Amino acid sequence: MDSRFWWQIFLAFAMAPAGARSQSTDAIGFLSIDCGLEPGSSYVDPLTNISYVSDVGFIDTGVNRNISVAYMVDVRARRYLTLRAFPNGTRNCYTIRSSAVARGSKYLLRAWFFYGNYDGLSGQPQSFHLHLGVNYWDRVNVTTAESSYRTEIIAVATAGYSV
Ligand SMILES: *[C@@H]1O[C@H](CO)[C@@H](O)[C@H](O)[C@H]1NC(C)=O
Ligand SMILES: *[C@@H]1O[C@H](CO)[C@@H](O)[C@H](O)[C@H]1NC(C)=O
Ligand SMILES: *[C@@H]1O[C@H](CO)[C@@H](O)[C@H](O)[C@H]1NC(C)=O
Ligand SMILES: *[C@@H]1O[C@H](CO)[C@@H](O)[C@H](O)[C@H]1NC(C)=O
Repeated sequence: MDSRFWWQIFLAFAMAPAGARSQSTDAIGFLSIDCGLEPGSSYVDPLTNISYVSDVGFIDTGVNRNISVAYMVDVRARRYLTLRAFPNGTRNCYTIRSSAVARGSKYLLRAWFFYGNYDGLSGQPQSFHLHLGVNYWDRVNVTTAESSYRTEIIAVATAGYSV
């Protein structure tokens, strides 16, 4: 991925066979990650009842940030309040360990991105590529501070996921 981009990711894993559920997935088999959430913390979103966990443990790079106060009032869901930014490097990877993934099963992955002027720089539009493992997934263009961007994919797991 390109350097100096921001992102906010939410990963939803659907249709996992019962045997493949790890302790980190919720009652319907989803693993939902709120990037930038404080290490070890989690919460249940009151609108959807989806449980979110911190992304610490899924990634080693990047820094936690809060969006700008000016954008907080309009935010519809708590997951937009924090994010993980990547000041470094060309690739930054989230890894879902293979123990949480059943090889050969289909998974839905959904990711959200939101700038929210977290750096106070009212940054220029940015664009970056997403890969799922070695495979190209999508290109994300973040053009405004107040819009959220979403992309999703259904993929057959071959092993642990790196996004
Ligand atoms: C969330 O869970 C509570 C308690 O089980 C339930 O009363 C409520 O209807 C649920 N809300 C949604 C959106 O599913
Ligand atoms: C950036 O890279 C340096 C050198 O590899 C590393 O020490 C630092 O932790 C990285 N910072 C982030 C935010 O990933
Ligand atoms: C984000 O905001 C919370 C609550 O105000 C604060 O405790 C935390 O330190 C902030 N995080 C960052 C990375 O600024
Ligand atoms: C992002 O912009 C590029 C080039 O303008 C375009 O090809 C691509 O379809 C855009 N991606 C999305 C997800 O809109």
